[in-house]
Amino acid sequence: MRRKIYWIEGDGIGPEIWQAARPVIDAALAAETTDVTLDWEELLAGTKAVRETGSPLPVETLDALRTADLAMKGPLGTPVGTGMRSLNVALRQSLDLYACIRPVRHFAGLETPVTHPERVDMVIFRENTEDVYAGVEFAALSPEARKLAAFLREELGVTKVGDAAAIGIKPMTEAGSKRLVRRALCYALDHELPSLTLVHKGNIMKFTEGAFRQWGYDLAAEEFGDKTCTEADPVAGRLLIKDRIADAMFQEALLRPEHYHVLATPNLNGDYLSDALAAQVGGLGLAPGVNMSDSLAFYEATHGTAPTIAGQDKANPGSVILCGALLLERMGQTEAANRIRQAVGKAIAGKAVTADLAPNISGARVVGCQEFGEIIGSNL
Ligand code: NAI
Repeated sequence: MRRKIYWIEGDGIGPEIWQAARPVIDAALAAETTDVTLDWEELLAGTKAVRETGSPLPVETLDALRTADLAMKGPLGTPVGTGMRSLNVALRQSLDLYACIRPVRHFAGLETPVTHPERVDMVIFRENTEDVYAGVEFAALSPEARKLAAFLREELGVTKVGDAAAIGIKPMTEAGSKRLVRRALCYALDHELPSLTLVHKGNIMKFTEGAFRQWGYDLAAEEFGDKTCTEADPVAGRLLIKDRIADAMFQEALLRPEHYHVLATPNLNGDYLSDALAAQVGGLGLAPGVNMSDSLAFYEATHGTAPTIAGQDKANPGSVILCGALLLERMGQTEAANRIRQAVGKAIAGKAVTADLAPNISGARVVGCQEFGEIIGSNL
């Protein structure tokens, strides 16, 4: 059986990390006793799309992704001079990719800024479409900002927003928050994990972040009441739903990471937490991620286009390779997914790694992007 996977090569280091990663993903699947093969079909976006079609995000690409269930992408740079804020944001909004999911774990042998990185094993579910990332903001002294400030003062009695303020809007809805928490909850239950933590800043932003927390608890009680419990009323064998204020969560992630398994967060908190946790276990070069709508799982390298090393065979293809593991897992190919993770672990233990990882592994030998991919492939 052939499973169609759309892929976007990406800008900067995109082409070279693809070249190193794709054979590993195909080989991992081929090593299993399955008749499933991956039928990769390229879609254009970014610089390559501008070169070939004149548009950074051709209609054909969006149309194909609207009907797809699985896709992968390399990093995309922000196109200069097209008026498009960010291709990644445009993709997330056009396809309603509302959940950004990032698993974070440590690979043995990788030195990190913390003493016990192996205690980190979390999956972050970050809401992807609302919050301050909705992109509704007005520049200081612009007619829009002045008009809005006047409306706030005159109509709503707000005294703290002066005429000179830049203004950003933070919309958060019950439906938007609940669909994210529902997905995180289902993941925690499916994987039989002990806890889900709602991360918020509700002590200060009561009606947005505080509501996110409450909607999360409500959803757990309404839809999963017989499978979940709370810290106030713990029940052995059930998924524990807890919440932490965002700043405290950063402390907890450093001091007691083993107490946390799945995190559900609004957009901005999740952005910070994902990168901080990735750094805690050794950096973004090995962090996979997926953006999901109700129909599409869109896997992506979490790092950017790394323009200063592009085309030099120096980039680490690990993030895309580990995205492949997530994709195979979603297809039900758990053994192939684990095979990839073990092969990456073995490559790191073998100390022949790309330049970004080498400073964090004592006695490491630096290899290029292609060779690192080959080493991982041979470990499968
Ligand atoms: P970046 O992630 O490209 O680079 C940050 C640092 O990490 C650089 O020192 C880079 O050399 C290094 N690095 C990144 N990926 C690496 C890899 N696989 N192997 C080895 N070293 C790696 O972030 P930056 O510089 O902020 O952004 C560059 C461009 O990428 C921008 O246009 C930005 O908009 C875009 N970007 C795209 C993302 C995406 O498509 N998901 C995510 C982040 C940034």
